[in-house]
Amino acid sequence: MNLTATTDLYGLIGTPISHSFSPSMHNKAFEKVNENACYLGFDTNIDKLEATVQAFKTLNVKGWNVTMPLKSEMIKYCDELSPEAELIGAVNTIVNQNGKLKGYSTDGIGFFANAKDKEFNPENKTIVLIGAGGAARSIAAQSIFENINELIIYNRTFKKAQQLKDELNEEALKQNIKIRVEALSNQKQLEKDIKESDLVINATSVGMRPDSEEIIFNPDWLSPETVIADIVYTPVKTKLEKEALSRGCKILDGLGMVLWQGAYAFKYWTGKEFPVDYIKKEIFNKE
Ligand code: ATR
Repeated sequence: MNLTATTDLYGLIGTPISHSFSPSMHNKAFEKVNENACYLGFDTNIDKLEATVQAFKTLNVKGWNVTMPLKSEMIKYCDELSPEAELIGAVNTIVNQNGKLKGYSTDGIGFFANAKDKEFNPENKTIVLIGAGGAARSIAAQSIFENINELIIYNRTFKKAQQLKDELNEEALKQNIKIRVEALSNQKQLEKDIKESDLVINATSVGMRPDSEEIIFNPDWLSPETVIADIVYTPVKTKLEKEALSRGCKILDGLGMVLWQGAYAFKYWTGKEFPVDYIKKEIFNKE
């Protein structure tokens, strides 16, 4: 990378950030498309957010990603929000247009872009989404804009699922999409819904340890026609994904979502297409 006096600066704010793929992903991509830019991590907690945003404006940092725990807090510094960011009240990408900040949430868009990349078309599909935390919220919000048939949200804490439905329902009704919520403890209903759905998404942290044998539902309920998505990417192949693969299911992996949320951020910042295949190979060692 050839840094000059006119190199544009991009960054990542949040804490912790040391595990993030974003700096290596974006720096490789800038280089590949000849964008005179670089991307750095800035470990930032809530107390430092206001000063950081001010400093970024002063120094004309062109754009940044926002991760935990700042995704909701960052909203109040945005001058404009994309529809899905507005819907969930959280952002992960900021574009700085001469001091005017526009916030986006590309996690959900990234999730569905990865699905389409793997030839799963969400149109008219019935989706079971397990979880109601940050990741689940982004996916749920974007699903409203993907012409799906029905979204069934399961969560361990039922009232968080209900709250998510309440936030999305007005827009969902406008788009003719049904949302139903269930407690994860309702295993009989979960079995029935999994058997009748097209896509089942684990958007909880269950399975997120190197040798985790944890699994969010009984994999015997899967048939080869069911597509399985797991947002967990450490380990790269979760127990759920292994069980699903052994039953002939198509898999949408967590790393794919990471790749595609970055691809959209890159496009919003630079106006250029993210070199997806190159980054898959260079960063994720995939063809
Ligand atoms: P993220 O931003 O990664 O989504 P989060 O906001 O902490 O993280 O959300 C974690 C999700 O995993 C929640 O849906 C959580 O369920 P609760 O709302 O009931 O806490 C879910 N989760 C975490 N551990 C779980 C477990 N052992 N069983 C079932 N769900 C679990």
